[in-house]
Amino acid sequence: MGIVIKGGKIVTAVDSYLADVRIEGEKIVSIGDNLEKPCDEIISAAGCYVLPGGIDTHTHFDLDVGTTVTADNFASGTKAALVGGTTTILDYATQNKGESLKSALLGQHKKSNGVCYCDYGFHMGITDWNDKVSEEMEDMIQEGVTSFKLYMAYKGNLQVDDGVIFKALRRCKEVKGLIGFHCENGDIIDALIKEAKENGNKAPIFHALTRPAKVEREAVARVLNIAELADAPVYIVHLSTKEGLLSILDARKRGNEVYVETCPQYLLLNDSKYGGEDSTSFEGAKYVMSPPLRKEEDQEALWRGLKTGEIITLGTDHCSFNYKGQKELGLIDFSKIPNGAPGVEHRMELLYTYGVLEGRISINEMVALTSTNAAKLFGIFPQKGTIAVGSEADIVVLDPNYSTKITAKKQTQKVDYTPYEGFLQQGKIEHVFLRGSKVVENSRFLEHEPSGKYLVRKPFSGR
Ligand code: URP
Ligand code: ZN
Repeated sequence: MGIVIKGGKIVTAVDSYLADVRIEGEKIVSIGDNLEKPCDEIISAAGCYVLPGGIDTHTHFDLDVGTTVTADNFASGTKAALVGGTTTILDYATQNKGESLKSALLGQHKKSNGVCYCDYGFHMGITDWNDKVSEEMEDMIQEGVTSFKLYMAYKGNLQVDDGVIFKALRRCKEVKGLIGFHCENGDIIDALIKEAKENGNKAPIFHALTRPAKVEREAVARVLNIAELADAPVYIVHLSTKEGLLSILDARKRGNEVYVETCPQYLLLNDSKYGGEDSTSFEGAKYVMSPPLRKEEDQEALWRGLKTGEIITLGTDHCSFNYKGQKELGLIDFSKIPNGAPGVEHRMELLYTYGVLEGRISINEMVALTSTNAAKLFGIFPQKGTIAVGSEADIVVLDPNYSTKITAKKQTQKVDYTPYEGFLQQGKIEHVFLRGSKVVENSRFLEHEPSGKYLVRKPFSGR
């Protein structure tokens, strides 16, 4: 017995056409007309789009930030992902100082094994470089962790120096991996935070004022110069500024191989959310994330970057903390507000509403940005990231004939707010299939045991 998704418009990164999809077991076995066999389950998708399941390139579930742990763990986060049409997430394992990469990976497996509802993989954050770590990068590739992350921010904690960046990039090229970079100049941020606090500044806006756009531009330009010296490709995570994007375009002209991710928050929200310097409201804390929200001109530049293909992935950097009790840790000190915001549940519908329906991108570009490009870059294509015979049946049926408002009251992610409260949502994720199993029906999560699978990803081979 199979499943036939019937009468919908199949959308891939390059095509849109009316056809039925037949699923057997975990895979798509045929695409065309008259595919039904006796006993098949028929799912009507008339009037709907049939898209490849989303791939969120950037989540932090069950992340301990020292003072608190994210509101969403792997169970609630991956459930919310499915409800929002995302069938694969790539989360971060992060090495503690003095720890081996193997141990960091094991720790992340312990947190996620048996509790994930969608499929998942890991990037490996390297914070403590040495010869052993350099060797272990190859072991990580064997384990299916084919991408890494280095932080240029969070001085005294996650931040690494330029020498480490250079050595890690050279080594990563040897082992066929890709390094993602958090591009903010941590030394300058550290100095600005100290200064702001000495001046008695407490309000959430100071999170943004102590991380101005130029600290991103500087770090982007620096890492691309180092990458040129190391002759290695680079992935820039959560790009937030026009100036950073201009640096990337310059580097590309010089021949740098650089791939870029941005996030819905940098497209749809701006620094007006933080309130003023003397604000007595703490609401701005909901938007405290790194990098911070920027200006309208940055939003416009990032939208243009999506359209032109300068930016190729849309991750959420989902890192949720409740407003009550968690964000409030920074009530009298903006630098103690835990950094991060939720987003995994609303990524696809937001991009459809504000990207496709507003004419900023085509629906094929939406598929490329939310799924196909990530699958190619991170070694899971064509297993995932497209609708094709032989691919895994990670499929989303999106009904465009629907309109509502986003609200935290209705969300599945386990956090007490959404940064997109009151945002229009046109179209809804109607049905979701994960490797051939129906996991969301009529926009409702179908209760079942967690069946998300760890993905052993292929080495990096370009896009
Ligand atoms: O504010 C954020 N983004 N928190 C998560 C950690 C990181 O920097 O990616
Ligand atoms: Zn992040």
